[in-house]
Amino acid sequence: MNTLINILTENVSNAFEKCGYDKNYGKVIVSDRQDLCEFQCNGAFMAAKQYRKAPQAIATEVSAVLTNEKIFKKVDVVSGFLNLAIEDSFLLNYINELAEDKHLGIQQAEKQETIVVDYGGPNCAKPLHIGHLRAAIIGEALKRLAASTGRNAIGDVHLGDWGLPMGLVIAEIKERHPELPYFKENFDESQEVDFVVTAEELNEIYPFASKKSKEDEEFRAIAQKITVELQNLNKGYYALWKKMLQVSKDDFKKMYDTLNVHFELWYGESDADQYIDELLKILDNKNLTYTSNGALVVDVQNEDDKVQIPPVMIKKSDNSSNYATTDLATILQRQKDYNPSEIWYVVDSRQSLHFNQVFRCAKKAEIVSNDTNLEHLGFGTMNGKDGKPFKTRDGGVMKLEDLYNTVYEKAVERLKESEFGNIENIEEKASKITVAAIKFGDLINHRLKDYIFDIDKFLASKGKTGVFLLYTIARINSLLSKLEQNESSKIAINNIYSDTEKQLLLKLSLSGEVFKNSFNEKAPNYICENAYEIASLFSNFYNDNHIISESDADKKQVWVNICQIVKKMLIKHLDILGIEHVNAM
Ligand code: ARG
Repeated sequence: MNTLINILTENVSNAFEKCGYDKNYGKVIVSDRQDLCEFQCNGAFMAAKQYRKAPQAIATEVSAVLTNEKIFKKVDVVSGFLNLAIEDSFLLNYINELAEDKHLGIQQAEKQETIVVDYGGPNCAKPLHIGHLRAAIIGEALKRLAASTGRNAIGDVHLGDWGLPMGLVIAEIKERHPELPYFKENFDESQEVDFVVTAEELNEIYPFASKKSKEDEEFRAIAQKITVELQNLNKGYYALWKKMLQVSKDDFKKMYDTLNVHFELWYGESDADQYIDELLKILDNKNLTYTSNGALVVDVQNEDDKVQIPPVMIKKSDNSSNYATTDLATILQRQKDYNPSEIWYVVDSRQSLHFNQVFRCAKKAEIVSNDTNLEHLGFGTMNGKDGKPFKTRDGGVMKLEDLYNTVYEKAVERLKESEFGNIENIEEKASKITVAAIKFGDLINHRLKDYIFDIDKFLASKGKTGVFLLYTIARINSLLSKLEQNESSKIAINNIYSDTEKQLLLKLSLSGEVFKNSFNEKAPNYICENAYEIASLFSNFYNDNHIISESDADKKQVWVNICQIVKKMLIKHLDILGIEHVNAM
C-alpha cells in the first residue's frame, strides 16, 4: 500500500508538471504548524531559483490546478508556501484501506532480498550481562522491522566461542580436574564422559581464569596453547568445549526467550572455522596478505582517509585466528549460504574500527560484491541514574537475569495495586510488562544515544513508556468487551464526528511513512514515538467522546471501529519492537 505522503506528493508533483515545472518540486511534508494546516509543500521556493520567478507566483499557479483535485479540501498559498488540507472522504477511504491491509500500511519491498542481522553476540562461558541488553533489544527490533517490509530477515546470534576465553576456561578445568579423560593422550570422542558443568560454574571459572592469566604467565601460555590446539580440533579439548558450548547456549536461550528475543541461527565464531582456509587462499590469491611482526595482516588504509586505519590481523604470530578472522570467514559463510544483499551488525559503537577494517577487507578481497551493504549499526551505553555505566551496588557488572528480576518484582507490585484490581495471570502479565518497560525504555532513544535506565520511569502507566501502550490496548479491550464488540470482521469508518477523532485518524494514516523512515534510517525509535502519539491521541479521543453511552448508533459504531483499528495498529507497532501486549491489566 502506498503511503499517504507518497499519494499527496504524486498529486502535487503532477500539478507542478502541468504548470510546466519540474515534478521533483512537489514533495509534500506534514506541516509543523498543525494549527495552520495539515500538510505543506515548499517546492515553489526551489523552483523559483530555477525558473527565475517569484515563489508566490509559482505556488499560485500550482494551487489553481490542485483546487480541482478531489483529495484536497483546501489549498492556500501563503508567501510562496502551499498549505494543504485533505478531504475527509479521502482520509476515510485511506483509513478503511489501511484497516484491511494485510501489512497495515507497511510498504513491501519490491525484491525479496535477504538481510542477515548479526546481533546478541554473547560469549560462551560468560553470563549475559547488561552489556548484552541493547544488542538483543535493538537487533531484534531491526530484524522484525526488516521482516515487516517483506524482506527475508535472518537473525544470527554469532556466539563468541572460538577465542582465548575458551582456552582459558579449558586450562582452568584441566587444573581443577586433571584426571578427566578429555586431557588424556588418546581421547576417544565416541566415549561418554561423566562430567557435568553448569552455567553457574562456567560463570565462576571464566573470570577466575582470566584474572589468573594476568598474574601467571605460565598459565596464560598454557591457555594460549590450548586455544590453538582447540582451533586445530584436538579431540579432547573439542569434546569438552562442545559440552561447555551446549550449557552456555541453553542458558542464553532461556534468558533471550524471556526477553522475547529469538534467533533464526545459533551460529558462533567456531562455525566459521571451516571457511578460514578458503579465506586465506582468497586473500593470498589477491596478494593482499603480508607478514608483520610475525602476524599475517592485510592493509585496509585508503588514500583519501583522514585518519589512520591500521591493517587488519588475519593470523596471530602463534597462527591462531582472532576476532577479525572469524568475522571475515563468517562473511564468506553467509555469502555462500544466503547471498544476502545486506548484513547488519548490531554491536556496541565502540567496535566501529573493527568493523570498518573487516568490511574494507571483505570488499577488497571481493568476498561480497561491491553493492552488498555491510553495515555496523552501533549503539550507545545504558547508564545508571548517576549518568555512569550501569553497575551493581558493589560496582560489578549486573547480570541480565538480575536486572530482569528487579523490574519484574516492581511490575508485580504495581499490578497488585493496579486500578483494575485484576490480578489474574499475574505472572504472565508481569513478565510482559517487564519486557515492555525495558524494551520501550531503550528503543524510544535513538540507538546511538546513551540513556539512563530508570525503572520507575519505565514502569509508569503514563508518558512515553511501553506500559502506557499496553495499558491503552487493555483499555480498548475492556471497552470492546463491555460492548460485546470484540471480533469485527470488517472495520469501516464512514464519518468523522469530532476533532480529536480527525487528529487520531490523520496520525494513523501517516504510520506507513513512519515505518518507511524507520526502516530507511534503521531507527526503531520512530516507531516508539509514533505508537506513543497514537496512544495519546486515542486517549484524547476516548476522553472526548462517550462511546458507551452514545445513543446515535451510527456514531457509536464508527467510534467502536476506530477503537478496533487503533488496537490493531498499536499491536503492530509493538510487534515490530518485539513487545507482546496483554489483553487485560
Ligand atoms: N562477542 C562479541 C563481543 O562480546 C560481539 C559479537 C558481535 N558480532 C560480530 N560479528 N562480531 O564483543
